[in-house]
Amino acid sequence: SLRLGVLTGGGDCPGLNALIRGLVKRGTHEFGHEFVGIENGYMGLVEPDLTRPLTEEDTRGILPKGGTILGTSNRANPFIYAFREGERWVERDVSDAVLRRCEELKLDGVVAVGGDGTLSIGHRLSEKGLKVVGCPKTIDNDLSGTDQTFGFDTARLIVTEALDRLHSTAEAHDRVMLVEIMGRHAGFLTLESGLAGGADVILIPEIPYRVESIVEKLRRRATRRRSFSIIAISEGAFPVGGTLAVLDKAEDVPGRGVVRLGGSGKVCADLLAQHLDAEIRVNVLGHLQRGGSPSAADRVLATRYGCKVLDLVRDGQWDHMVALRAGEIVAVPLSESRKERRVDASGELVRFAKSMGISFGD
Ligand code: F6P
Repeated sequence: SLRLGVLTGGGDCPGLNALIRGLVKRGTHEFGHEFVGIENGYMGLVEPDLTRPLTEEDTRGILPKGGTILGTSNRANPFIYAFREGERWVERDVSDAVLRRCEELKLDGVVAVGGDGTLSIGHRLSEKGLKVVGCPKTIDNDLSGTDQTFGFDTARLIVTEALDRLHSTAEAHDRVMLVEIMGRHAGFLTLESGLAGGADVILIPEIPYRVESIVEKLRRRATRRRSFSIIAISEGAFPVGGTLAVLDKAEDVPGRGVVRLGGSGKVCADLLAQHLDAEIRVNVLGHLQRGGSPSAADRVLATRYGCKVLDLVRDGQWDHMVALRAGEIVAVPLSESRKERRVDASGELVRFAKSMGISFGD
């Protein structure tokens, strides 16, 4: 039996606790492994007093809970770790200290659960000799190594419900309702929840939009006595010839994370207002999309990931991550996690949506 460290890094998403539970339960029952919880992502391997035993007892009752019992941190990259020096933040490579810390903790390996950032750090630490197995997670569903990440299904449900609710108030007031949806540079969440929530216009980063085209669509609706409209817009969507509204203007503050300054919804609303008399409202769903209890599908997927990790550990498949491929959980090299996936602008979902009259603003 082995002693394994477990950490969750990057933005949280529903299903992390289900994964931890699956991992610890199977690991304890079937393999007699011992687990060490590392708190706040890689920060727990840099700062003192952020590790603790992680037993089956600790995983009791956590299956339906959102967030992560281990905590997470967005900006704890051991290769460029931010320290406060007086008034200033300075960045240093502390990866050697992380390896030493794992030795002190007598870890036989580390399970790193996270998005592209956490996983590619895991890969770099593997190259330095640390034994790492990764698990992908993100509501954005933009990791190319895996067909689906857990968290995505729950977020899709939350956004769909928001769109349903916004329909009735938009209709009552004859308003154009813009709904800004997460997903960073990928439009999966906006596309799928836009479809599920009956959006009239879907704007995603993969298809830059023309305001005139959206205006035309809204005018066509008005002639059919539809005096309200729902526009699902990705936070990363931008007009033809324009630039990313939110993501590029964000200011990266060492040690504090990314401060978000703008909004793609607001940019689009301002452009539309130049052409339309209708009342326009912007709803930024924000972190609501990542909170709360995971869906049944995400609980199952996360549990499968957590259990599968132990096969990789048993087979010595370090520097790999678990992934869903064609319905099966398999191992793929951690280096794959760096490749990002985007919506196929001429793929089936977009084509079907267009054939139903949904506008992508192109
Ligand atoms: O990657 C997940 C995600 O929720 C993105 O959809 C979003 O752009 C980002 O994280 C938000 O990051 P933060 O929690 O740092 O504001």
